[in-house]
Amino acid sequence: MLVQVPKGTNDILPAQIDYWYYLENIIKEVLQNFGYREIRTPVFEYTELFVRGIGETTDIVAKEMFTFSDKKGRSLTLRPEGTAPVIRAYLEHNLSRENPLTKLFYIESMFRSEKPQAGRFRQFHQFGAEAIGSPLPIIDAEIVVAALFIFQKLGLTDLTLHLNSVGCKQCRPKYLDALRDYFREKKAQLCADCQLRYETNPLRILDCKKEQCRVIVGKCPSIFKYLCRDCAAHFDALKVYLDKLGITYQINPFLVRGLDYYTKTAFEIISGELGAQNAICGGGRYDYLAEELGGKPTPGVGFAAGMERVLMTIIKQNIEIPLWGGIKVFVAVTGQDGVNTALEIANQLRSAGVAADMDFLGKSLKAQLRMANKLQIPYVLILGPDELKENAVLIKDMEEGTQETVSLKNILFHLKSLILKNKI
Ligand code: HAM
Repeated sequence: MLVQVPKGTNDILPAQIDYWYYLENIIKEVLQNFGYREIRTPVFEYTELFVRGIGETTDIVAKEMFTFSDKKGRSLTLRPEGTAPVIRAYLEHNLSRENPLTKLFYIESMFRSEKPQAGRFRQFHQFGAEAIGSPLPIIDAEIVVAALFIFQKLGLTDLTLHLNSVGCKQCRPKYLDALRDYFREKKAQLCADCQLRYETNPLRILDCKKEQCRVIVGKCPSIFKYLCRDCAAHFDALKVYLDKLGITYQINPFLVRGLDYYTKTAFEIISGELGAQNAICGGGRYDYLAEELGGKPTPGVGFAAGMERVLMTIIKQNIEIPLWGGIKVFVAVTGQDGVNTALEIANQLRSAGVAADMDFLGKSLKAQLRMANKLQIPYVLILGPDELKENAVLIKDMEEGTQETVSLKNILFHLKSLILKNKI
């Protein structure tokens, strides 16, 4: 039996790669224009980073990590998200030295042992941005704008921005008490997971997708009554910035996100084109994360978007993307004698920026022409015995069916004139 890819993982095949290039190019272009620089962290980290960073009671840490031991028995985990590793790298390399506001972005694969379904995988890709060093709400606005800018540039429509504040160390405990009070009598009606969440972190109950819990959550107290002055002012300022930029949003007091490091701002961008897994982007502020990881107090805010979900939306919306132009020139030979010359010509063409290929299977000239035709290669250079004797090559225009003989030393010049005429 043929060995297959592990469950929840995907091959990205050549037929799909143009979509990834399109997405990656726009991400890099937009985020660099916002002043973010790319960072690449290891695929695995010490498990402790995620336990301390994301939080022990989250689904990610409790159920979804791919954890293994190295030969010395140290626990390692495949990166389930990018923020904790970025903050670790920021602290480890003292990146604030260069600029007190450090803006970083990443495009990386992530690993979560979830139940695979449409839009949910065990290996998936995220692009994300983190702005580290500013406590001001203006940078929260910039992070939201940067994410929306990318989606707009990609051509995505039907997106809704959901916005919430999850408070801080001062005000959240009071809200948690209010939630415990509210859920206490209804505990028996909650799902088994939420009964546990009631003990460990009742905020997590707000995120439960089970119908029985959603009904109860629907009437629970709103966090907005419990926010401290600082958190309320931060949230109000963010809304004003977004309003002034003409960005519409829905306030969603039940948006708590699946990671424990959030403080104040939390947001998600939802696509109307996707089914159950409709969050294409999530983010927020994480002012205690650096301290949690052993660094000095450093505020931060960021987002990450699921690239497979973004691509699914691009495909659903029939957005036209730039495709690879394909091979433009095929160098065909008859017999062994011309092979070296063919290789030289192909390399000259490649150096001049022309996509060129030749036969590597020892096929007959007829078969080579058939192949070039099948691959819709517009020009074939034929190096037959006569051409080799005369140091020339026959150029066949496959579309027009015309051909002419050109001397080997003029071949690049000749092809360049075709490039200028936009024929290649
Ligand atoms: P997250 O909400 O866990 O946040 O993930 C961000 C996005 O990754 C989701 O909105 C979704 O599009 C995608 N995603 C998550 N899990 C999967 C999966 N199993 N399969 C496919 N796509 C998935 C974070 O990861 C935070 N680090 C975001 C952040 C950055 N917050 C601040 N800075």
